[in-house]
Amino acid sequence: MPKIKILRAQDLVDAGRLSADVLAEVIQAKPDCLLGLATGSTPLPLYRDLIRRYAQGALDFSKVRTVNLDEYVGLSGDHPQSYRYFMNENLFQHINIDLQNTCVPDGMNADLDVVCKEYETRIDAWGGIDLQVLGIGLNGHIGFNEPATIFSGRTHVTNLAESTRQANRRFFESLAEVPSQAITMGIGSIMQARKILLICTGEKKSEILAKALLGPVDPLVPASILQFHPNVVVVADEPALMSIDLEHSGFAAG
Ligand code: PGA
Repeated sequence: MPKIKILRAQDLVDAGRLSADVLAEVIQAKPDCLLGLATGSTPLPLYRDLIRRYAQGALDFSKVRTVNLDEYVGLSGDHPQSYRYFMNENLFQHINIDLQNTCVPDGMNADLDVVCKEYETRIDAWGGIDLQVLGIGLNGHIGFNEPATIFSGRTHVTNLAESTRQANRRFFESLAEVPSQAITMGIGSIMQARKILLICTGEKKSEILAKALLGPVDPLVPASILQFHPNVVVVADEPALMSIDLEHSGFAAG
């Protein structure tokens, strides 16, 4: 089985820097690359570092294209908790990316099946994802692919696990306001990416990270499928690596 490479970060800023190195390499090799992006707290240091590099003239996003992993159903792009809003606020408006080249699923569309199909068509038309950024949920989800009896395929509408709604409640006024459905790229869509960067920080995630990387490949731990991907880099800080014995686990270290 191909070796997953683990890059050990000193702290959150370092996790951002190491992750940005991975993206920068892809962007420099292919200026019109397609990046798969993620939202949540985990990628924020990455986005800050990309903005810093852009401001210093070290990165050019003028031809870069992006697709995001997921979006809540029922939130419009100008809702502060929508993922379109998150991407604009935390990355896109600070760099020279053309917003026409950025894609987040439309959770407000009356025909979500069409949205899902068109999302896959868009990814194909843009040549497939060169690098997919992922966080990992406390329950092992990637994107909004929640634990299930089978691995999901392509972009689809999904019901959010109650634990996911609870975890994301901190961004909303009340639990009732947290949407119960989302559009998400499927496990199949994610696994098609040529390279995957999984970022994981904080002690809270250490147990699920160990399960995902060292446990059996199991749809109840969706991220475990990454063990079958040929080109995965994990950036993790010390607390997140607490449950993994790097010396003896057989991972390629960085
Ligand atoms: P977080 O979310 O980065 O806010 O912890 C990760 C996820 O749920 O995928």
